[in-house]
Amino acid sequence: MAPKLLWIGLGNMGRGMCKNVVEKANVDHPVLLFNRTKQRSVDFSAKFPAGQTEIVDSVAAGVARADIIFTILAKDDVVEAVADEILKAGDVTGKLFVECSTVHPETTTRVAKLFHDRGAEFVAAPVFGAPAMGELGQLIGVLAGPGASVQKARYFFTGVMAKSEIDMSDQPYEKALQLKLIGNTFILNMVEQLSEALVLSEKSGLGTQYLHHFVESLLPGPFAAYSTRILSGAYHRMAYPLFPVDLARKDARHALSLAEASGVRMRNLEVADAHLAEVKEHDGERGDIAGIYGAIRKESGLNAKAASLPVLRRELGQLQRRATNHRQTTPLLSAANTPWSVIIGLVIVVAMALAAWFFSPKGENQVLWRSSLILSIASCFLMWAVTFLAQLHPLIEPRRSDLRKEFIHH
Ligand SMILES: NC(=O)c1ccc[n+]([C@@H]2O[C@H](COP(=O)([O-])OP(=O)(O)OC[C@H]3O[C@@H](n4cnc5c(N)ncnc54)[C@H](OP(=O)(O)O)[C@@H]3O)[C@@H](O)[C@H]2O)c1
Repeated sequence: MAPKLLWIGLGNMGRGMCKNVVEKANVDHPVLLFNRTKQRSVDFSAKFPAGQTEIVDSVAAGVARADIIFTILAKDDVVEAVADEILKAGDVTGKLFVECSTVHPETTTRVAKLFHDRGAEFVAAPVFGAPAMGELGQLIGVLAGPGASVQKARYFFTGVMAKSEIDMSDQPYEKALQLKLIGNTFILNMVEQLSEALVLSEKSGLGTQYLHHFVESLLPGPFAAYSTRILSGAYHRMAYPLFPVDLARKDARHALSLAEASGVRMRNLEVADAHLAEVKEHDGERGDIAGIYGAIRKESGLNAKAASLPVLRRELGQLQRRATNHRQTTPLLSAANTPWSVIIGLVIVVAMALAAWFFSPKGENQVLWRSSLILSIASCFLMWAVTFLAQLHPLIEPRRSDLRKEFIHH
């Protein structure tokens, strides 16, 4: 029988991740939802057809009915408080808890022990990737814990919420969080590096557009995406931060404490964190990690809020629209990618062949004209149809047969 799921935490990350689970995973619907601010559950649930999700009024009510419980929450004390609430709720024997928040490794170890002591299974599963990647099911999961439990949790990662996993089966829980924290220092240092270089490009008279072009060419992916986010001015325009300053500082704090405990000094990270402290002071909770750019501009004698490059603002707008519209556009795309396209193509080709037949110049070369045109049209059609059908149904491709029917080829 398919397991029953409870999802706790519908913040920036939780919404995209849960959306993919609701849509793709073969679970016993409805997926139960709990979020501290109930309105978020209500808004999220309204995006799905009736029966796909169900809002529960308390953690206890959800846990009692679920076999697998996912949590993705802001920070350590919240994860510990919710874990306490779950354990007070009643019997958790045999249930699987998949904890996806970014917390200190010691927090995960402590929480995991509480669940183990009560006969539950636990997997530490922090994720890499921004909210837009979560929305598109393109995260990278890091899964640690007993092999059998990780195996159960993996079903929800590659092909559902994630594009890949880093498998830490039978490794201690803290390793997943160590990797997550060390990995996040790349993001923090990258934003620091980009911001410094962009400010220098502006002040030295080089022009930020050239540096942006260089970044796009040499470092496509996260570097280019952050360069766009910075230059579009999104860091001081967005209604809600994509990577809130408090969460970024929490990650920096945990990484620095891990480094200190291991006798390592992370000077790059210290600099980035000092700039984040300025972002927090300037923008409060609504500050975004990309605000580091504003802090460096300010200390370099520029206005903290840069005028955005219009082209990049448009690009960012498109990026955000693409992320939000993905759900609506997918059915349209899939409608075009059906065998009907071949039939429609055939009708068009027959019409063109008829036109070639009737409109070929009269005279002694008419047969030559007709046969050349009709054969060319037919050959082009055959070439296109073979390529199209090969892409529609490739003979060799990695497939998962255990997802819900409509996502098997996803
Ligand atoms: N944003 C990113 O780019 C990113 C990427 C990878 C991993 N992460 C990690 O993923 C986790 C969630 O991040 P996010 O971006 O989704 O954060 P978020 O948008 O701030 O959402 C935080 C979630 O935690 C809940 N929460 C906060 N305080 C609570 C409390 N005192 N009691 C109960 N629930 C509480 C929030 O509920 P409400 O809706 O009621 O506020 C919301 O569901 C964090 O650990 C973060 O470090 C973030």
